[in-house]
Parts: sequence; structure tokens; C-alpha cells
Amino acid sequence: MEKRQELYAGKAKSVFATDDPDRVVLQFRDDTSAFDGERMESLARKGMVNNRFNAFIMGKLEAAGIPTHFEQCLSDTESLVKTLTMIPVECVVRNIAAGGLVKRLGVEEGRELSPPTFELFLKNDALHDPMINESLAETFGWATPQQLAEMKALTFKVNAVLKQLFADGGLPLVDYKLEFGLFKGRIVLGDEFSPDGCRLWDAKTRDKMDKDRFRQGLGGVIEAYEEVGRRIGVDFT
Ligand code: CDP
Repeated sequence: MEKRQELYAGKAKSVFATDDPDRVVLQFRDDTSAFDGERMESLARKGMVNNRFNAFIMGKLEAAGIPTHFEQCLSDTESLVKTLTMIPVECVVRNIAAGGLVKRLGVEEGRELSPPTFELFLKNDALHDPMINESLAETFGWATPQQLAEMKALTFKVNAVLKQLFADGGLPLVDYKLEFGLFKGRIVLGDEFSPDGCRLWDAKTRDKMDKDRFRQGLGGVIEAYEEVGRRIGVDFT
């Protein structure tokens, strides 16, 4: 496999072509963004930590029968993944009320959500990722009803696997965001799963162990990501 030209640079990751059109290299950078890219900072070791974290989680999800784009780690900060046509819709599941839900509906932060909620957002920084629904996604051609149904089922299947995995590490999985794409016509989990795209609280202290540490200027961001990784068995060496 030969790494070729950069195809795309996102806020925290870059994508490179390879000699195989069905495979691209995902490079995890140290760049950290919040508030739709309004705040950017470089955090040492973040690229390595998120690359290893994501590889570990994608492995667990594949083992549970969830199709993912992940193929293999290539280096500390690079992974080989399937080339997807991304669906511009973010799927969010919440087990505990926090973040946008608390702001929007005025519910109490920390309230257990039973059953867990499922929300769709349009991936569009300029519009601040507005909330959408199945009807809008179908009308504007962002995803078909069949694709949306499959994305929803897979997002909840991920919840079953990861809620348990993190709970075993003393870390309630508060909420998370997933993105999917198409590979040869099939829905596949893309993007990454790391503390950048989910909320995890320490079960005892209720300390935030995720990107909220960056958003809220609490410090110790990467130390918290590493601690989460250690508790669930990620190998950072
Ligand atoms: O975090 P924020 O208030 O912007 O939005 P949210 O709807 O409360 O986010 C729910 C979950 O999805 C959190 O774990 C966020 O970190 C994650 N998320 C994300 O990773 N990327 C986005 N563009 C929006 C949410």
C-alpha cells in the first residue's frame, strides 16, 4: 500500500489517497476544535491517543457484528480505512441528559434518559449542524428512509456494546455522535469514535473525561482521554 496525495483536511483529521481506490489513509492530527471550528488548539499526543483509541473501539464494534470502515493502524497517528461516500447526517444517542439537549429543552443535566434518545443533525459547520429529522433527510436527499433506519439500528447496536464497555471502566457513556458512509452500496460506520465525539463521566467523581474538558477550559484534556483508554484496555505504547 502506497500513501499518496492529501484529498481532504478536516478539523482534526486528514484523508490521503492510496494506490487502492477503495482504501484511504486517515491521519489523526493534534488539532482540536470546538464550537464548529471557532476555537482551534493543538494538544500534544492527541493524534496518537485518538488513533489508538479509535482502532480499539472499531475492533470491538466489528467483533460485535457492526460494519466499520476501519482496516488497520499504519502508525501512531495513521489508520487505513475503506473509502466511503459519507452521508452528511450525524446520529446522536443520549443515555444521560447533557450538552445541547439540556440547553434546548431545559431538562436537568445528569438525568437518566429511558429509553435513550436518538437525534439527527445535518453535518454543516456554517449552519452549526442544525437538528433535522427523517422527513427532511429524505426530501433533501441526504439519506433514504432505508439508510436512516439502518443507521438508527446500528447506532443503538453501538450503544449496547459501548455502554457496557465503558461502564466496566467506571465511565457512564452519557452520549455520542456517529457518522456513516456507503461502501459498495452498504452502510458502514465511518469517522472515528474517541472522547472527541462522546461524553464520558467518572462514575464516582462525575468528572468530565471527554472533549467537554476542552470546550469548558478545564485542562487535562489528553490526560483524561488516556485515563479513559487505560480503564477500557487501550494500548497506547
Ligand atoms: O456538544 P454539543 O452541545 O455541541 O452537542 P450535543 O448535541 O449535546 O452533542 C451530543 C454528543 O455528540 C456529544 O458527545 C458531542 O461531543 C457529540 N457531537 C460531536 O461529536 N460532533 C458534533 N458536531 C456534535 C455533537
